[in-house]
Amino acid sequence: MRIDILTLFPQMMTMFFDESIVKRARNKGIVEVCFHNLHDYSLSRYGSVDDYPYGGGAGMVMAIEPLANCIEALQAERTYDDIIYTAPDGQPFNQSMANSLSLAQNLMILCGHYKGVDERLREHFITREISIGDYVLSGGELAAAVMSDAIIRLIPGAIGDEQSALGDSFQDRLLAPPEYTRPPEYRGWRVPEVLLSGNHAKIEAWRYEQALERTRARRPDLLAGDDTTEQKNK
Ligand code: ADE
Repeated sequence: MRIDILTLFPQMMTMFFDESIVKRARNKGIVEVCFHNLHDYSLSRYGSVDDYPYGGGAGMVMAIEPLANCIEALQAERTYDDIIYTAPDGQPFNQSMANSLSLAQNLMILCGHYKGVDERLREHFITREISIGDYVLSGGELAAAVMSDAIIRLIPGAIGDEQSALGDSFQDRLLAPPEYTRPPEYRGWRVPEVLLSGNHAKIEAWRYEQALERTRARRPDLLAGDDTTEQKNK
């Protein structure tokens, strides 16, 4: 997979992609992540890409021309499965969306800033608008990093033991069960006996019960099928 990230602040992004699972996936050639500085596509001498909003009001709007030029330069090189725009008014990001995006060959993610982008860009270039939650960030960079991380870890080979991605919270609409490691007892707090039993069938049954109980207690909406975005994302 290749992910192209269009941003005003490429230096802000790089550290997220240079650690841990994402770094390993990049090094193994499972994913290529490329950053594009939107200032490089500015039409002005000063590298600006924003302008005053028509109709007045506070704040600036990212102009269509530099962004369209950057998008089209990339489209001339390859076909994109999706051109994503990060925005608080987009579709809420979730695991099912990460699952389907992890099957893509080429993704482009445009990070919004200021008051956002000229609406014509959203209408004519963007194929998906995604929010990572009901709060407003200073820009879309963190959203792009969050989405990329969730997507990349699902690509076969990114995680050593592929089973572990399947056991993540939200896969199967259940939160993950609790995990323990050595020592078996610490300050009198014991690891549940079943996990030390070596009986794999019993351990699986216990984990499923725990996942169910945890989901019931913390996120009953998942069990009720109360995820209104699920259908739209399929
Ligand atoms: N840009 C600003 N806030 C955002 C959010 N919640 N999700 C995605 N992009 C954003």
